Amino acid sequence: MSATPHPDAPILVFDSGIGGLSVLRPILDLLPQAPLVYACDYKGLPYGEKSEAEVATRVSALLGRLVERVRPRLAVIACNTASTIALSHVRAALDIPFVGTVPAIKPAAERSTSRVIGLLGTSATIRQPYVDRLAADYAADCLILRHGAGELVDAAEAKLAGNRVDLEVIKQAIVALRSQPGGEAMDALVLACTHFPLLSQELAAAAGPGVALVEGNAGIARRVAHLVAGQDWPEGVPQRMVIGNGGRDRIEAAWPAFAELGFTSIDLV
Ligand code: DGL
Repeated sequence: MSATPHPDAPILVFDSGIGGLSVLRPILDLLPQAPLVYACDYKGLPYGEKSEAEVATRVSALLGRLVERVRPRLAVIACNTASTIALSHVRAALDIPFVGTVPAIKPAAERSTSRVIGLLGTSATIRQPYVDRLAADYAADCLILRHGAGELVDAAEAKLAGNRVDLEVIKQAIVALRSQPGGEAMDALVLACTHFPLLSQELAAAAGPGVALVEGNAGIARRVAHLVAGQDWPEGVPQRMVIGNGGRDRIEAAWPAFAELGFTSIDLV
């Protein structure tokens, strides 16, 4: 990719579903003129229940095709599962800057006074060596309680589609952390899946006032803004498109959230 991308070259934001919306919003706060392509792999959702090999192969192949098709200036893997498994493969294979989303263990360790931190992610994310490394590097003196909560991915998808959130599912995710040895002292909770900040009100209510919810999306947006600093943007209204597979209905169900962010079209692949 040349040092000066065309003003219309979009930022590509990629997730298995609508989780990337939690990353898109802070990006747009910093870069309101950015053209965007949001890509969702509904055919592959949930990544959190797949093997490492499946996620790595699928994400590398899809991103290769997407980069070819939309020629982004930069891509954000707005999915913790895909980032913790496939970020290094994708960076090695494709010649544009990639920003990943990885569990916000460092800021959680900075906040926690009890030194007990909860980590809610998908089943695939919480078992990654990448997470072990973050824990060893930034939270070696903390007890990190992990729970794989794939049901919360479905709950977030349901919420964005305008359906009722099953609060029992939210409560159970918190109980699963609290009931682990040491869990009663948890005072920080890492939302290690981009779908989960879409449920932050419900999770905060279930966790109670003594638990700070921590996610890294504002930091990811700052990283994106830093990498595109000095680049040109289109003069008029920036183009914003959702590209997806697995049927138009899933994207249309969440359309109000995209329309609010200036998205105007859907492309099915
Ligand atoms: N949004 C994805 C993440 O951040 C998870 C959704 C899925 O399981 O596909 O991990």
